[in-house]
Amino acid sequence: MSVRFACCIAALLATVSPLAAQAGPDPLAPTGRWSAYTRGAAARPPMGWNSWNAFGSGIDERKLLASAQVIVDTGLAAKGYRYIDLDDGWWLRRRTADGRIVIRTANFPSADIGGGETSFRPLTDRLHAMGLKAGIYSDIGRNSCAQMYSSDGLNQPEGNLAEREVGLYDNIDRDIGLYFRDWGFDLIKVDACGIRGLTPDSPWVSSGKMRALGPFIDSESLGRTDISTVRSLYGQVRQALEKYNPDNDFIYSLCLWGSADVRSWAKDTGNISRTSDDIAPTWGRMLHSLDSAARRPLYAHPGSWNDPDMLYIGTGDFDADHLTEARAHFALWAMLSAPLMIGYDLSKAPPALLDIFGNSRVIAVDQDPAGNQAVLAFDTDDLQIFVKTLANGDKAVAVVNRTGGPISGGFTADQLKLLKDADIALTDLWTGEQHSFRGEYKFKLAAHQTLIFTAHGTRRLAGGFYLSETPGIVNPAADGVLVPEEEPLVYRPIFWAGTHGSGEHPRYGGWGGAQPDQTPYGLNLGIGRQRFDTGIGILANSRLEVRNQGHARFSAQVGIDDSARMLSAPATFYVYGDGKLLARSPLMRFGQAPFALSADVRGVKLVELVVRTPTPGIQGRPVTWGEAALLD
Ligand code: GAL
Repeated sequence: MSVRFACCIAALLATVSPLAAQAGPDPLAPTGRWSAYTRGAAARPPMGWNSWNAFGSGIDERKLLASAQVIVDTGLAAKGYRYIDLDDGWWLRRRTADGRIVIRTANFPSADIGGGETSFRPLTDRLHAMGLKAGIYSDIGRNSCAQMYSSDGLNQPEGNLAEREVGLYDNIDRDIGLYFRDWGFDLIKVDACGIRGLTPDSPWVSSGKMRALGPFIDSESLGRTDISTVRSLYGQVRQALEKYNPDNDFIYSLCLWGSADVRSWAKDTGNISRTSDDIAPTWGRMLHSLDSAARRPLYAHPGSWNDPDMLYIGTGDFDADHLTEARAHFALWAMLSAPLMIGYDLSKAPPALLDIFGNSRVIAVDQDPAGNQAVLAFDTDDLQIFVKTLANGDKAVAVVNRTGGPISGGFTADQLKLLKDADIALTDLWTGEQHSFRGEYKFKLAAHQTLIFTAHGTRRLAGGFYLSETPGIVNPAADGVLVPEEEPLVYRPIFWAGTHGSGEHPRYGGWGGAQPDQTPYGLNLGIGRQRFDTGIGILANSRLEVRNQGHARFSAQVGIDDSARMLSAPATFYVYGDGKLLARSPLMRFGQAPFALSADVRGVKLVELVVRTPTPGIQGRPVTWGEAALLD
């Protein structure tokens, strides 16, 4: 029955929508398989150090090892900071005779292994002997970012045009084999400048410095971006990484700065993915990076994380004279389950900064094994409240004052999904102080201050979890967004272009993606005038995968969301268990009261939640899985 249904839908898709037809098999057909990426060594967000924010292209072996040594000596390595990543600026040229990449030995003397050959094996051996891991950087195009944008040209590849083509394009298998099998790296960050700006009329190409390529990415326009080519190139890197790392000990870091609709596919392709353009050591730019990831908790899972960029603690607005801001930056990254990559010359780090990097309580929030990225429980321009469900059922809660003046507020038991008439014990993760409250906890925040706590109380849903509390086990395998749109809500300070031009515009694809506790367009959830403060908001013609870790029952109140316009098509809601249909709703129409959907999921490993309209292949309107929960 379900096979026949799937085949008819596929046939319909082929006639109705060229977009959907390109996608191949029916994306709404249940598979019984969790499809977010789980290969590689990223069951928890990676932690370590990266050279870029500290040194740019001025990196050399001595500087890298100095920070690595501090990481070991101060105990930061023992706390999880393991990856020592070499960013842009390490290469000398590609040897045209055999395509092999040659290292700049003037800056990395140990790479000179004699006979005119170079290898990073001595460096990675040294890092491994220190108990650390080693990371390297490349670009998916023929040229890297610093080759195009460096103002001083420091340490850029040398030689003729072909020798300066050090990026992965046309060399994916060869280079990944060299970096992982031969040189022993454990992580690669793959940038994308080489497929973005090299149009025939660009200064690099017209001056004869570089060859034109694509461009496959147009940061200003998703319409002009060749998403499938970008995705296929990054997929080829994934395949090579899996081939050359049969022990699975690798991390694949995608760096497309939120372009090419990477929000929708990175979670199937690699371990961490940049959600925004570069962070800078300014408060506004840190908030921008935060915002680019904050509304995407359902797109992060153990094995595939949102990456709001490396830490800038130690520099500018986050230096030792700005510990309030430095702590805020660190706490917020921990709430987001972000990679914790230090971007500072640690040989200069004063104890106060080392204390921030080394705060075990905050690190534990970042590294919590459940991998639930925090959900925004309260969201305004000035004040935000993030709540993250931890593996032991406790909550982490962070309140951030985005403004330059003092502010006060309170968070409620409801926002934590805890009972309001029972005691809630709070631990302040910076000071270790204990507090207790019922109902509401009032706080005062200094300018730019973030408070972060763990909270232990009585769960509002006894014997189960709302799905919006556990985004780490919910994967929007098909989120219903058929035409990618730029995310309009992200705060956008002016950056690269100064005050020239018309400013920066929305540029990160993702608008309309699935959301915990709100609609895909950021509104309150409601069905037939009944408001839900918990649930999953998604567009119709979508499929969610939910890992079931031993629960017996799935239940939800389902229907077309009240925010949908009147012209909304009706939709049917289906619950599958390991690929078999368990329950379905009647055809639901706009304005109808919610339908109580419930299914026995005992012994089921993967629950799939599908919503179909009678006309598949069109972008659906918001629908709501109200109070969606897995129960004992
Ligand atoms: C940028 C990237 C930075 C850094 C830099 C190196 O594209 O976002 O994190 O890697 O390239 O040139």
